[in-house]
Amino acid sequence: MDRDVRPYHEAFAAFWHPVAFSSELGERPLPARLLETDLVVWRSESGVAATQRYCAHRGADLCGGTPVADGLRCAFHGWTYGRDGRCVRVPSQPAAPIPDRARLASYRCIERYGLVWVCLAPEPAAPLPEWPELEDGSQAVVPLPLLDWDVSAGRMLEIVLDVAHLSWVHDGTFGNPAQTEVPAYAVEPLPGGLRAQIRYPALSPSIDGVPPRVDRTTLTYEVTFPFTARLHFKPTLFYTHAVYAVASPVSEVKMRCFYFASYHPKIRNFADMFVKSELAILEQDRRVAEAQSPKAHPLDFAGEVHVKADLLPIEYRRAVAALRRGQPLAGPVME
Ligand code: FES
Ligand SMILES: [Fe+2]
Repeated sequence: MDRDVRPYHEAFAAFWHPVAFSSELGERPLPARLLETDLVVWRSESGVAATQRYCAHRGADLCGGTPVADGLRCAFHGWTYGRDGRCVRVPSQPAAPIPDRARLASYRCIERYGLVWVCLAPEPAAPLPEWPELEDGSQAVVPLPLLDWDVSAGRMLEIVLDVAHLSWVHDGTFGNPAQTEVPAYAVEPLPGGLRAQIRYPALSPSIDGVPPRVDRTTLTYEVTFPFTARLHFKPTLFYTHAVYAVASPVSEVKMRCFYFASYHPKIRNFADMFVKSELAILEQDRRVAEAQSPKAHPLDFAGEVHVKADLLPIEYRRAVAALRRGQPLAGPVME
C-alpha cells in the first residue's frame, strides 16, 4: 500500500461515529464496536458515556455492569468507574489508595439526532452533520432496524450515492428499468461534504391491481464526510421526506448503518410504509454490496473503470482517499 495512506483506524478515529440509537440505550449498558475497538456505552447522571468494554481489574465485560450515581459498576467485584474512565471505588479494600492503573480508556460521547455518537480521538476533526429539521420539532422520525453488513463503510456510502444502479438493482421496488441513462448532474462541495441533485422517474410497483406509476422525483444527496448521507426525496405524487444513512465503521471491511427517515407527522402510515419498503430496497443493495470485491473501500481508481455517470461516488471516494492520506479536502474536480 501507498506509504502516505494512514491505517484505517487512525484516519477515522477523529470523526464522530454513531454507536447506538438513543432509544436503545436505557438502563443497561450497551456493547459497541468501532474501528476494531470494543466499547461499553451507558447513561450516566451527566449524559452518555463510552469507555473500553473490559474491566481494568480482571477483564470482566462491563456490559454486564450497572450504571450508578458516580459511574459504571462492574458486576464481578464492584469496582466503579467514572465517565472519565478513572476507578473511583474498590470495595474489596475501601481504605487503600486506588491504583493509578485502575482506569479505562474513555472516549468523547454525545447524544444528538436520536443517536449516541463517539469520537475515539481526544479532539474531533469535524463537527456532526447539520440537520436542523430534526431539532425544530417539525418532523417525525422513524428508524430502521440496524443494518449490520459485511461491507466497508465507504462501499456502503458509494452504494447510497450511486445514481446509475437505481434502475438495475431496485427493479421491483422503485427502480425504473426504462430509464437506464443517467443525465449529466453536478456535484458541489459543501463544508465537510458534497451535494448533488438529480431527477429520477421512480416507478412504484403495481399493488392490488393498481397499475404501476411513474413519479418524477427530485433526489438531493448531501454527504458529510466520512460516512454520512442525507437523501431528500421530493416526489410529485407523494410527500417530501428524507432518509439518513450513517455508516459506523466497525472495521475496514465491516459496518453498522444507522438508517432512519424524517417526514411530516401528518403523513398517515408513513412509518409503516417506510420500514417495509425501505427494508426491501436495502436488501437489494445488501446483496450487491456484500458481494463486491475487494471488500475494503478502494482508495484509488486504478482497479475499476469509472465513467462520468458515476460522478458522485467518484467524488466521494476521492475525498475519503484524501482523508486516508491526511490531506486537506479539495472540492470536486470532475466537471
Ligand atoms: S473484573 Fe471488574 S471489578 Fe473485578
Ligand atoms: Fe440502492
